[in-house]
Amino acid sequence: MLAWPNTPYNSGMVSYELYARQLPWPVDWAQVYGRAAPLLVEIGFGGGHFLVDLARRRPAANILGVEIALPGIRRGVQKLKTAGVRHGRVIQSTAEHLLWLCCAPDAVSEVYINFPDPWPKAGQQHRRLINDTFLALLAARLLPGGTLYVATDDPDYAQAIAGCLERSSTFISCLPAAFVTEDTVRPRTKYELIALDAGRTCHYFRWQRQAVPAPRLFPIPKELPMPHVIMHLPLNPEEIASRFRPQQFSADNVHVRLPLMFQAAGGTLLLVEVYIHEAPLSQRVGLLVRRREDGDYLVGLSEIGFPRPTPGVHLAIGGLARWLLGLHQDTAVKQHNLTVEDDYFNEL
Ligand SMILES: C[S@@+](CC[C@H](N)C(=O)[O-])C[C@H]1O[C@@H](n2cnc3c(N)ncnc32)[C@H](O)[C@@H]1O
Repeated sequence: MLAWPNTPYNSGMVSYELYARQLPWPVDWAQVYGRAAPLLVEIGFGGGHFLVDLARRRPAANILGVEIALPGIRRGVQKLKTAGVRHGRVIQSTAEHLLWLCCAPDAVSEVYINFPDPWPKAGQQHRRLINDTFLALLAARLLPGGTLYVATDDPDYAQAIAGCLERSSTFISCLPAAFVTEDTVRPRTKYELIALDAGRTCHYFRWQRQAVPAPRLFPIPKELPMPHVIMHLPLNPEEIASRFRPQQFSADNVHVRLPLMFQAAGGTLLLVEVYIHEAPLSQRVGLLVRRREDGDYLVGLSEIGFPRPTPGVHLAIGGLARWLLGLHQDTAVKQHNLTVEDDYFNEL
């Protein structure tokens, strides 16, 4: 019997679920699957029936299902396992996160979006997955010649999708029109069956990514070294905690909010809760302010929950360190590895 190749993600046994938080940016998909093959992505696979069928029909491709709902992930894992399709994986993530952070340009060969949530009410349409920005992201990650398949039973959403595709300079329809209303070849999905039973018309799109350069709008964020600042600050942790007030700041499209500071029992450690938004990533992390034996303070990132040391995290630690420096006149930064200008801490 042929052994499945060992990769850093499996050791002979297949692990059908990938963990978005732990994957590098971008992902080396050949390493994940143990082989180089075209990557086919189903977005919002729901029950997983179509995903498993796709994996069965395309044994020479690497198959990836992305879904935000945990029950869907569990069903997907179970179905892939039962079917024994070792080239199938699922990941709990938004499609936007997966494509932007985990997929390099040209990494994806085919994308399937079956019955995306239609958000039919007037005030909700901004929540729809497929819009001009999302198509630009798809174009940035799909291989030239790659294919985008979409199906929907919502006539208004179908017209909106057709409009976006026709406006985009990177996609061209493989069909005589923007969409057709019959497709007897593909397996039916759960939502498709519900729509057909209710007598609704389904709209099927098949568009090809043309060989024109995609706009470079979605840079993959860099990961930096784990950040730290060592500073002299002649205050004890109680004094620091008592002066803390919620704060927020922004720079370079990064928004940082520090709502709370906690003091650990025993007294030498403070933990600051921090929210960092730097599209497409939002992280809730803990920043540590630890008094060392020599009396200096170390400001760093708690490793709880696999935080990613992004420029936003460096900005958050820099902001916290600046606030600490402003608490007393006899403060000084002794050492730091933040990606900030050398005079950042001297501006106070
Ligand atoms: C209407 S259901 C369709 C499910 C399945 N494709 C079908 O046709 O039966 C839409 C699915 O998309 C998932 N979803 C919604 N937004 C998503 C996003 N941004 N990224 C990934 N999945 C998403 C939902 O959790 C849900 O399972």
